[in-house]
Amino acid sequence: MDLRLWLIRMHIASVSLSKFCFLCSLAFCCLLLLLIPTLQPPPRLLDLPQPRPQARPAGTKQSHHGQVPAGSAGGSETQGRLVQTKESRNENQSPKRGTETDGGPVSESKSLDTLELKDIFIAVKTTRKYHKSRLELLIQTWVSRAKEQTYIFTDGEDRELQVRTGTNIINTNCSAAHNRQALCCKMSVEYDKFLESQKKWFCHMDDDNYVILPSLLRLLSSYHHSQDIYLGRPSLDHPIEAAERVKSDGSVSVKFWFATGGAGFCISRGLALKMSPWASLGNFISTAEKIRLPDDCTIGYIIEALLEVTLTHTHLFHSHLENLQKLPVDTVLDQVTLSYGGFENRRNVVSVAGSFSLAEDPTRFKAIHCLLYPDTGWCPESHPEH
Ligand SMILES: *[C@@H]1O[C@H](CO)[C@@H](O)[C@H](O)[C@H]1NC(C)=O
Repeated sequence: MDLRLWLIRMHIASVSLSKFCFLCSLAFCCLLLLLIPTLQPPPRLLDLPQPRPQARPAGTKQSHHGQVPAGSAGGSETQGRLVQTKESRNENQSPKRGTETDGGPVSESKSLDTLELKDIFIAVKTTRKYHKSRLELLIQTWVSRAKEQTYIFTDGEDRELQVRTGTNIINTNCSAAHNRQALCCKMSVEYDKFLESQKKWFCHMDDDNYVILPSLLRLLSSYHHSQDIYLGRPSLDHPIEAAERVKSDGSVSVKFWFATGGAGFCISRGLALKMSPWASLGNFISTAEKIRLPDDCTIGYIIEALLEVTLTHTHLFHSHLENLQKLPVDTVLDQVTLSYGGFENRRNVVSVAGSFSLAEDPTRFKAIHCLLYPDTGWCPESHPEH
C-alpha cells in the first residue's frame, strides 16, 4: 500500500521530470536559434584575412619562395598604401567587405565608385634574360603610363634597371627555368603581392604584351571588383579536362575553361580573396603540383572547378599564338592586350598605321604607343598644324 503509493509518486515524478527535460531542451534550442545570428560573423571574418596572420616565414609545405618575411614586402606595401584610394580605405573599415546587398548608402557610394587606373594591380611576368630584349620596350612604352601600379615579377636582381627607370621590379627568387614549378612560383608571388596591395583588380600580363590602358580601364569599369569576375581569352575552343586531385583522389575528372596567360587575364578582388585557400602563401604551388598543370591552367582550375565561377570569355586579349595580322587595323586600339611573334615568327605582328618602319619597330609597340600617346617625347611629330 505504502509501496504502491510510492510507485505512483515515482511515476508522476518521472513523467514530470521527462516533461521538464523536454521543456529544457526546447528552451535550449530556442536559445541556440537566437544565438545563431551573433555566432555567424566570425567564420566570415576568418575567411578573409586568413592569409595575413599566417604570414610566418618558412611555412611547412612551401619551397624557397615561402620565405617571405613579414617585412620583406616593405617597399611595395608602402607604395600600395600610398596609392590607396579613399573608397578602398572605407571598404577596409567595413566588416562586410564584398557584400552587395547592403541597401542605402552603399549603393549610393557604388555609383560614385568609378574605377581608376591606380586601382588596378598589373603584374608582368618575365625572366632575367628578357630584361633587355623585352622588358625595356615595355618600360619605354605602356609601363611608363602606369608605373605606380605595374609590378615586374622576375627571377634575378636588376638594380640598374630599377633605379634607371623607376619601375617596380620584384625578384621572386623563383627559378629562371621555364618549367611548371618556376612559372607557378612566380604566379604565387604575384598573387600574394596583389592581396597585399589592396587594389581592386589583379591583371597578369606576359612580357610580350602591350597593354592598352584606356581599354583595360573601360573593360574593368563595366564590372564591380566585389563581384566574382575572371576575364580572359580561352586558349582552346573547348574546356580542358584534368583528373580531380584536390576535391577527390583523382579517379574522377573535371572540365574547366582557363584564360591563357600569354594573352593576359584579370581577376576581381572579390574573387581573388575566395581563391586564397588554394592560392595564397605557397598554396598555389601545391595546388598546381596536385593537378600537374601550368600556372594559367591552375588559376582556371581554382576558379572554375573549385569555386564554380565561370570565365568571362573576351576576345580583347591577344597572345603571340594567334594570327595577329588578322586584327582589323581600325580595331587595334580598342583591344586590351596585344602581342608579337617571337624569334620563330617575326612577322606575326599587328597591322597598324604609323611612321615607324618594321625595322625600327619590329613589334609595332612603338607605333601603337605613339597613336595612343602622341605627346610622348620620342614619338614623331604627328600634328601638321604645329
Ligand atoms: C628574395 O630574396 C631576397 C634576399 O633573400 C629577399 O630580400 C626578398 O624579399 C626575396 N623576395 C621574395 C619575393 O620573397
